[in-house]
Amino acid sequence: MDAVIETRTAEPIAEQAPDAATAASNATVSPDNRKLVIDIRNITKVYKMGDVEVHALRGVSLKVYEGEFVSIMGPSGSGKSTMLQILGALDQPTSGEYFLDDVDVAKMRDTQLAKIRNQKIGFVFQSFNLLARTDALRQVELPLLYAGTPNRSRLAKEALESVGLGDRLHHHPTELSGGQQQRVAIARAIVSNPAIVLGDEPTGALDSHSGQEVLKIFQQLNREKKMTVVFVTHDSFVARHTDRIVMLRDGEIVTDRRVPDPYDAATTERPSSDPELEAMFKETYSAPKEHFA
Ligand SMILES: Nc1ncnc2c1ncn2[C@@H]1O[C@H](COP(=O)(O)OP(=O)(O)OP(=O)(O)O)[C@@H](O)[C@H]1O
Ligand SMILES: [Mg+2]
Repeated sequence: MDAVIETRTAEPIAEQAPDAATAASNATVSPDNRKLVIDIRNITKVYKMGDVEVHALRGVSLKVYEGEFVSIMGPSGSGKSTMLQILGALDQPTSGEYFLDDVDVAKMRDTQLAKIRNQKIGFVFQSFNLLARTDALRQVELPLLYAGTPNRSRLAKEALESVGLGDRLHHHPTELSGGQQQRVAIARAIVSNPAIVLGDEPTGALDSHSGQEVLKIFQQLNREKKMTVVFVTHDSFVARHTDRIVMLRDGEIVTDRRVPDPYDAATTERPSSDPELEAMFKETYSAPKEHFA
């Protein structure tokens, strides 16, 4: 995978593409009348480490509309996780604006942020982040418990069924495979019916078969339940399953393109060699560019 990324950075595909958000910074619906869910404007993030400042994001603007499936790619240290943490209201930007589902998030205090996270965002981590001593059903009930939602058990069961784990309700994490644990985490992320589901390398810790299963679920949630999904991935094959790829480098968006003909996770097999993957990636990036207004 690293080889693919390396090749990419050597190619001229990372030209400065005028970014969509600046192109139409005031639109709240897409050309096909979809609602704006994420609207970040000129976000910066500076980490202070003693006397040293790390500029993790240097002015990032992005609009994501309801029902989009977006992957964020870029070399290690380019700011992907930082950006996703801000999108997920897990962290605040140093400057810039963030409207999530029309709510101004960038200046909120911690308690308000926690509420927004609970209501509007489902987060899936690379390492699942499940509680060791808790069965699948209870893990998925937790966000509902914090929110004081009634019918928790039924809703949690339905969420687990929707990720194909209806027969694993009372299994603990150690009794589940990696792919199944990630599916529990996805059920937990979607049970509150959030405006967006975010993932930081959700397939990164999985073997290719389990990764494909997880990808299939994300695709189903997006296509059948119309969920808006944004995830980070290092893997160009995974990204090729999404509708749009945003590429970061050194804390800036360098490209933002529609994937011409996204792969279907249910029917696509991973190419067996790196050159094949590389060719596929180039093909994605040589397709005519479409902008996002
Ligand atoms: N909490 C932090 N304190 C200080 N610096 C940080 C912190 N988190 C991230 N950074 C720095 O910010 C930059 C962006 O980090 P980030 O984790 O967003 O990168 P990434 O694109 O997710 O990388 P990777 O692919 O390795 O996960 C890096 O230079 C990193 O060292
Ligand atoms: Mg990261």
